[in-house]
Amino acid sequence: MDQAEKKRQAAKAAAAFVEPGIRLGVGTGSTVNCFIDELVPLRGRISAVVASSRETEQRLRAAGFEVSDLAETGDLDLYVDGADEANKHFHLIKGGGGALTREKVLAAASRRFVCIIDDSKWVAVLGRFPLPVEVIPMAQSYVSRQMVRARGQPILRKGFVTDNGNAIIDVHNLSITNPPDVESRFNQIPGVVTVGIFAQRPADVILIADDSGVKRLDRR
Ligand code: A5P
Repeated sequence: MDQAEKKRQAAKAAAAFVEPGIRLGVGTGSTVNCFIDELVPLRGRISAVVASSRETEQRLRAAGFEVSDLAETGDLDLYVDGADEANKHFHLIKGGGGALTREKVLAAASRRFVCIIDDSKWVAVLGRFPLPVEVIPMAQSYVSRQMVRARGQPILRKGFVTDNGNAIIDVHNLSITNPPDVESRFNQIPGVVTVGIFAQRPADVILIADDSGVKRLDRR
């Protein structure tokens, strides 16, 4: 099975979590795009849908959904999103697509977070994927220096502006052995908007597609 097919299979498995009357949050990325395709026949059972990025919002609208704001819906029943890395503690790295801030808000506002990945995203230790950090533009160089102090190699994502008008620094060469701690420490650096570690609010369920099919992992 190629990677694109694995993403489709994981997305298909997530459709089973969409119950009648649900208020649903939708993440961002190529795996989630497959999930949006799966949502089309389920439109009648979704009472509200909230998007984690402009890109997702456009896709949902093109698929015939009316997209709501989180301010109108209040907390959500379910959030479905991909990830760039995941470990056995259900900690994630996210933000490869640059939508990490809104993704983190929707994950926090949701009763259940289902993460859909292919097996290339599964790691023992987070950090092989460069850690995305959203920063306000004037703090770029200051935050980058703090990342060097933390033994990372920060690289500004050139020409990229987030949906919130900010910049992304991708931090290479980190080995994140204690994700909740690193998430808190990096969150406290002035100028940081969001760190792409999702450990304080981890996934509740991971649907991971490999050559043999889709495995479901539930966090206790
Ligand atoms: C978007 O900002 C990210 O957090 C995505 O969830 C992540 O990059 C996964 O994307 P793919 O599904 O395209 O691999």
